[in-house]
Formats: sequence, structure tokens, C-alpha cells
Amino acid sequence: MKQNASKQKQLDEIARQIENCDECKKDSIGKAVPGEGNPDARVMFVGEAPGKQEAASGRPFIGRSGQLLRSFIRNSGLTEEDVYITSPVKYLPKRGTPSKKAIVHARELFFKQVDVINPEIMVLLGKTAIYAVLEEEIPVLKEHGKILERDGRKILVTLHPAAVLRFPLKFKALFQQDFEKLKQIIDTP
Ligand code: URA
Repeated sequence: MKQNASKQKQLDEIARQIENCDECKKDSIGKAVPGEGNPDARVMFVGEAPGKQEAASGRPFIGRSGQLLRSFIRNSGLTEEDVYITSPVKYLPKRGTPSKKAIVHARELFFKQVDVINPEIMVLLGKTAIYAVLEEEIPVLKEHGKILERDGRKILVTLHPAAVLRFPLKFKALFQQDFEKLKQIIDTP
């Protein structure tokens, strides 16, 4: 519990840095969305950038794709309080999708969050998360469901829930399979 409180304090300090960073805010709209969840989470979900509802509220993944993500999290036996949910880019880009420059800039504070939380498993939701974490572009549809290792952590690559919402017939089953993989990893002590 003590460790949890100190981790939360460190995360609050990073959130303050995000709120004070002019470069993070450049060409963006709305509030900073640093992330939310358990500072001691075993599993960290990494998205792209806030959408309109997130930028209006300051909370990650609360719009339609967030509801989908959160329902898959619950169905895999986790609760939202067990995990940490964030996106590498912390502000809604004016142009919708974050530029590579914005992703590269966002890495520093994002990785500070990762260092504090120190999750055992990171779930990368789509190509921005992959680029932010792995520093390379890998084809999501080809690599989804694979478990990679980085810095002693397991990395599960999957689709962004917005893609699943957009093309449910094509992608929902793939997303489901990937969450089953996640469940297996979680259940393995
Ligand atoms: N999409 C993301 O990638 N992150 C959010 O917080 C919301 C939607």
C-alpha cells in the first residue's frame, strides 16, 4: 500500500509535467490525458492519443472505443482497477492522428510512467503504441497476438479498439483471440 501511494505521487508529478509541457500541447485540443488505473498494475494498455471525449474529460478511453476496450478487459477476468490505461500521446492532436514527431516527443514522459508502474505485461493497441514502445513499424495484422520481450517485460501486440469498432466482422474475432492470449499470460504465475 505504501509503495502504491509513492508510485501514485510519482505519477502525479509526471502528470504535472505533461500539463506544463508546451511541446506536448502543440497543435492539440483540450485537456491533458495522462492515464488512469492502478499504479502497481501488472498489465498496462497503451493506445494512440485521446479522442474528443477523453480530451474534454481528461480521462483515457471513455468514448466508444474505450467502452469496447474496457469490456474486453473485464471479460478477460481483470478489473479496470487492476490495470493501467494510457496512450503515449497525451493530447488530442488537431489533425486527429498524432504525427511521428509528436509520438517521438511523447516517449520521454510516457516511459517515465512505464518506469514507475513497471508492468509485467504491456498490451500495445495498434500502430502508434507499437511505434512508441518498440521504436519500429511492424504490421499489426501480421504480428497481432505475438508475445515479444522487451526490458524483461512481455509485450502483446494487438489492434486498436477503434479499428475493431469500425470493422467488427473483420477484426472482433482477432481482438478476442488476442485477449485470450492475454488471459493465458495473466493466469501463468
Ligand atoms: N484512443 C486512444 O488511443 N486513447 C484514448 O485515450 C482514447 C481513444
